[in-house]
Amino acid sequence: MYRLAAPAKINLFLQIIGDRLESHGFHELVMVMQAITLADHIELTPRLDDGIYIDCAHPLVPCDPSNLAYRAAKLLQKQAGDRGGVDIYIEKRIPVGAGLAGGSTNAAAVLVGLDLLWDLGLTQEELQALAAQLGSDVPFCLRGGTALALGRGDELTPLVNLEGMSVVLAKYRALSVSTPWAYQTYRQQFQTTYAQTAAEQEQQRLQGGSPELLRTIAQRDLQNLSQHLKNDLEKVVLPAYPNVQHLRQAFADFGAVGTMMSGSGPTVFALVETHDKAAELCQHMADKFQDPDLELWPCEFCSQGIHLISSS
Ligand code: C5P
Repeated sequence: MYRLAAPAKINLFLQIIGDRLESHGFHELVMVMQAITLADHIELTPRLDDGIYIDCAHPLVPCDPSNLAYRAAKLLQKQAGDRGGVDIYIEKRIPVGAGLAGGSTNAAAVLVGLDLLWDLGLTQEELQALAAQLGSDVPFCLRGGTALALGRGDELTPLVNLEGMSVVLAKYRALSVSTPWAYQTYRQQFQTTYAQTAAEQEQQRLQGGSPELLRTIAQRDLQNLSQHLKNDLEKVVLPAYPNVQHLRQAFADFGAVGTMMSGSGPTVFALVETHDKAAELCQHMADKFQDPDLELWPCEFCSQGIHLISSS
């Protein structure tokens, strides 16, 4: 049996350049992604038959073939041949439909865990290629740390290690945002601004990615890094979900160094200088909103992607 940690991610930067020319329905992106210490735990137990079964107590996680973790196991089973099946237990800590890549990181953990369980000896490149077949965020979840992500989000360049920086997440338990909805709405509203040709897209990619943000990351400069956070999807999600905007505003009012929505939301994160400030900020937010539906997590940037906790 293998037990793995599957960290969530936040987006420090998400710029939409245009419609991808070669993969219909997807956007060409420039992102900076960051793994955080909030993580699901995934347990994989081998089965003698070739069944794949998912078990998860969270009411919003499907325990059927629609779960990305199931699809990851099926993909690897096809690749591996006759190695038996697996019971997958997901201990859900990352909120669902939150813009934190919870489903993607579970799928990445299944790839890493089954490679070990079935002794497949896949290389990092082979795992990355399988991950990209499952979803745009799955390759990043596999590697974790801090990375520049281009293309669909699966062309990764590792950046300097920001491990230990403090961040607070806030999300209303009952609120979730559909990623396809966020991107489609963005397309409806902003398609006229999209770079249309390969040359235009390349130019924007070179200009984009915010050289200032990359410089401040290289310097591990939290104050200046916070000035260069960006998420284009805020333009469609915040007007549709005013509560998310209120969380963002409150984080700013309580002195967060920087605040932004992650991915397609609705989770909002706040960067702070120290662990103590993170705890303080959580308390301020809880006192201000007095809402049992509001969940807050103090956590940290983390340098790891999927990693083994134990095996037996
Ligand atoms: O790759 P993934 O399955 O996570 O993508 C979910 C949805 O998000 C896609 O169906 C698409 O609507 C949107 N998306 C996009 N461009 C990307 C990544 C995702 O439009 N680069």
